[in-house]
Amino acid sequence: MVALPSQSSADSAIATAGRQDVRSLGINPHHWYVVARSDEVTDKPHGVVLWGEAIVLYRDAEGSIQALEDRCPHRQVKLSEGEVAQGELECIYHGWRFDAAGACTHVPYLAEDQKLPSCQLKTYPVQDLDGFVWLFPGDRDKLATDNIQPMGLPEWHHINYIASVAVIDVAAHYSFLIENLMDMYHGRLHDDLQAWADPVLANLDATDQRVDVLYNAQSYYRIDKIWSVSQLFFPALRQLHPEELRVSYVYPHWMSTLGQDFKICCLFCPVSPTHTRAYLIHFTSLQPFHRLHKLPMAFRRFVKNRLFDAAKGLLNGLVAQDVLMLEQEQAAYLKNPSYKGPELNRALISVQKLIRQQAESL
Ligand code: FES
Ligand SMILES: [Fe+2]
Repeated sequence: MVALPSQSSADSAIATAGRQDVRSLGINPHHWYVVARSDEVTDKPHGVVLWGEAIVLYRDAEGSIQALEDRCPHRQVKLSEGEVAQGELECIYHGWRFDAAGACTHVPYLAEDQKLPSCQLKTYPVQDLDGFVWLFPGDRDKLATDNIQPMGLPEWHHINYIASVAVIDVAAHYSFLIENLMDMYHGRLHDDLQAWADPVLANLDATDQRVDVLYNAQSYYRIDKIWSVSQLFFPALRQLHPEELRVSYVYPHWMSTLGQDFKICCLFCPVSPTHTRAYLIHFTSLQPFHRLHKLPMAFRRFVKNRLFDAAKGLLNGLVAQDVLMLEQEQAAYLKNPSYKGPELNRALISVQKLIRQQAESL
C-alpha cells in the first residue's frame, strides 16, 4: 500500500528531487511531428498548434503544403482565419498578403509613396508524406546536418494494406499517452475491443532514440480466410493462439505489430503540457489472400479504398476508453504532482528515461 501525500504537496513544485517531473518535460523539437492529415490541408488555411506554437498550413498554387506561424505581423490575429489568394496567405483583417517565405507581398491600401512593410513570418519545413503532414519545428541547420527524416508510413499507399484512422485528442501530457501505448498490461480496460490477451513482457531494448518491447501474448487475430474478419465483431468466434506483440516508442511516435498482419501506429502532435493530439492508424494486411493478388490492380485498389476506415469504429471505442483514463491521470497529477504510484512494468521506466533524454538533450 502506498501512502497518499498530503494535499499541501500539490502546491509544491512540479520539479522533484531537483529534476523536472516527466509530466512537465518539453518535447525535443528536432524531430518530425505529425500536425494534420494530408486531406485536411486545402487551399483554405488550416490552423494547428504544436507545443504552444500556432502554425497555419495551406496549399499553394502548385498544391504544395506550406507552413508558417499563425500570426499576422500587423495586429497579430490568426492568419488561419484568412484565405489563400493567388497561392498566398491573405489576412482576413486588412488583407495583407504573405508569400511562402513569410514576406509581405501585398497591402491593398498601400499609397504610392509607401513601401511594403518588411516583416518576416517564421516558416517551417513540412512534408506531405504517406497521408499525413509532417512538420519539423526544430533547428534547420541541425535538420540538414543530421539528415533527420520523418518516420513515414510505408503501408499507407501499399496495395495490400487496409488503413483505418482515429484521432486522439486528450487533455493530458504526451508522456501519459505514450506510456498507455507501451503498457500492454491494461487489457482489462478494453475487454472485447482488444485483439490480444495474456501478454508477458519477454524482451526490452532501449537506446537514446527508441524503446522496443516484445510481449508474448495470445491473439485471436489471424486473417487467413475471409470469414475470419468476423472475429473482429463476434468475440464468440475468436480462437486464441500464441503471437508476438511488439511495441516501439520511436521518439516521438509509436508503432506496434501483432504477428505478421496487424500493425498500429500512433503519430504524435503534443499541443501543450496538458494537451496531446495524435493519429492512431491501424493497418490490416491482405497478404494472406493469395487469390486477391492475381486480380487486376484497379480492382485491388478499389478493395483497398472501399475497406478504408473499416476498423474506425473499433479504434474509436479503444480511444474513448483510454482517453477517460488518461484525463483522470492528468487531473490527479495536477492535484498531487509529487505523488508517485508504484510501477510494475519496466517498459515504462525506459519510456520515461527516453522522454527525459530527448527533452534534456537540447
Ligand atoms: S491584422 Fe492582418 S492585415 Fe491587419
Ligand atoms: Fe489502450
